[in-house]
Amino acid sequence: MNSEFEQLLHDVESFIASGASRSDILLNTCKLLKDKVYHYDWVGFYLPDGQGSTLILDSYFGKSTEHTTIPVGKGVCGQVAENKKLKIVQDVSLEGNYIACSTDVQSEIVVPILKDDQFVAEIDIDSHSPSPFTIDDEKFLTSVCQKLSVLF
Ligand code: SME
Repeated sequence: MNSEFEQLLHDVESFIASGASRSDILLNTCKLLKDKVYHYDWVGFYLPDGQGSTLILDSYFGKSTEHTTIPVGKGVCGQVAENKKLKIVQDVSLEGNYIACSTDVQSEIVVPILKDDQFVAEIDIDSHSPSPFTIDDEKFLTSVCQKLSVLF
């Protein structure tokens, strides 16, 4: 992982250690990642409802979106909730099961947060850059999600 991502991971660890509420920690994480990583243009967290059939938008930073609820299985977010596996879409125009939030978005990465192998939340990042995500983004965001799992 590059040194910029290493530093951001330390910052997320500090948020968690601060004892702030879960929603404040998630919001601070959204702001940090959107502000510091050039190709992260919208960062948000979706959490499953009580039944586990719908995702509800929790903290986010970026333009407001009408997609505040997403059925599990629908869109990139819904697929990740169903499969519990990270998904990268380097070109959203080629993704059949995709929910468009803004025409500016070209690519997306969604990473699940698992606790005891159960899906408890996911981080969703939209990018205005074409094909920007690398193995470094995967490693970094997987580590962020592992750290945040203690909040659930
Ligand atoms: N594009 C997502 C919907 C959420 S917005 O990106 C905020 C999807 O296909 O699930």
